[in-house]
Amino acid sequence: MPTKVEMEKIVSLCRRRGFIFPSSEIYGGLSSCWDYGPLGVELKRNIKQGWWRAVVQERDDMVGLDTSILMHPQIWTASGHIEGFSDPLVECKSCHLRWRSDDLESNNCPSCGGELTESRLFNLMFKTSMGPIEEEASTVYLRPETAQGIFVNFQNVLNTTRKRLPFGIAQIGKAFRNEITTGNFIFRSREFEQMEIEFFVKPGTDKEWFDYWLKERLNWYVKLGIKKENLRSRQHTKRELAHYARECYDIDYLFPMGWAELEGIANRGDFDLVQHAKYSGKSLNYLDEETKEHIIPYIIEPSAGVDRSVLAFLCDAYDEEQDKEEIRVLLHLHPTLAPIKVAVLPLSRREKLVAVAKTIYADLRQCWMVQYDDAQSIGRRYRRQDEIGTPFCVTIDFQSLEDEQVTIRERDTMNQIRVPIKELKTILTAKLSGELFDNQPLWTTKS
Ligand code: GAP
Repeated sequence: MPTKVEMEKIVSLCRRRGFIFPSSEIYGGLSSCWDYGPLGVELKRNIKQGWWRAVVQERDDMVGLDTSILMHPQIWTASGHIEGFSDPLVECKSCHLRWRSDDLESNNCPSCGGELTESRLFNLMFKTSMGPIEEEASTVYLRPETAQGIFVNFQNVLNTTRKRLPFGIAQIGKAFRNEITTGNFIFRSREFEQMEIEFFVKPGTDKEWFDYWLKERLNWYVKLGIKKENLRSRQHTKRELAHYARECYDIDYLFPMGWAELEGIANRGDFDLVQHAKYSGKSLNYLDEETKEHIIPYIIEPSAGVDRSVLAFLCDAYDEEQDKEEIRVLLHLHPTLAPIKVAVLPLSRREKLVAVAKTIYADLRQCWMVQYDDAQSIGRRYRRQDEIGTPFCVTIDFQSLEDEQVTIRERDTMNQIRVPIKELKTILTAKLSGELFDNQPLWTTKS
């Protein structure tokens, strides 16, 4: 059965524990922009690293790229964004709130019931100008997707890496869209991050690569902990297809507000390379060495949102358990994603214990993000770590001074084992990479 958590619980946890804050909060906030706090930034980095590892590091048919946000304005004409990247907008004649007309269920303003204006198209790209003079010729745009930076570097990558088809280029970076309606926390914002792959293939093999990437990307989420039943793939109808797409599937997640897009997989055909060749006047052909023919590769594009992934991983990991009189809130985050891997907890603040605990803390920090916590009861400290998804707590007690052993306590089962301090790092390394804990799997892919 698919499961859903309430959004308020996630928002409240994120705020309370320093995952995510509203942007510019002391000035009253800036609508639909978010700041990642000390734990949020770790979670987000771990997601991006996990993605990069799976799609670049572990493959020999993929390379990475990091292109600029501001690009030649002609790129957006070639890509179709100047003409077509718009949403239909209506304005309420009474309260002047603006709405996407295709989101509305009635002909009146959802806020005050007032009469709405005729619908007009509203381009979603943010404009700014380059250089000191603000004039038409200096207009540039904040990129609404990272993909175009990859297309315009296709020849550069080809020439410098000697990659042959099929191969892909991956990029992670910020994108900006002046969305009319935002909301659902970090789900739809105006500044967000994307993780995009443009995979170049021989025409005719595109269907098989499309199927491959759809499966591959679904599996990535499952491997990192998302429950299968909370994911689905959904084909775009003809009417929904973007102007560049021959075929598109969304990978949807069951967010608190319902099923919604987490990632899109599109078959972009040769649209982008043809357009950029036409507008730049540069050849973006590929010489097929077998047939000695010049071809224009087709592109399969798995395009994921970093912020939506953060939200999906948090929602899926969130859990509440009855523990004696209390409710234990915990995040079952995959160890790879957990912001803090280990917490070091001395049982008391006595000097001798602190000295041992601080030495362990300094040692473990060489390997992972580790927290040291000596405030309040040990039970409370465990709860604090459970709530942020820390897989292991290491407790140093008075016995440790005598037998040079410490206790490792595991988040999900609360089981404990006693291990020699000199083997602690090796044991934690093994457990964090999936070795059994107390004969229980530390973390299993939930079906
Ligand atoms: N290059 C293709 C492309 O940009 P998209 O479906 O418009 O396709 C890809 O965007 C992904 O980017 C989405 O699946 C979503 O995860 C993320 N995304 C798009 N708009 C967003 C927004 N306003 N806020 C947060 N994430 C967004």
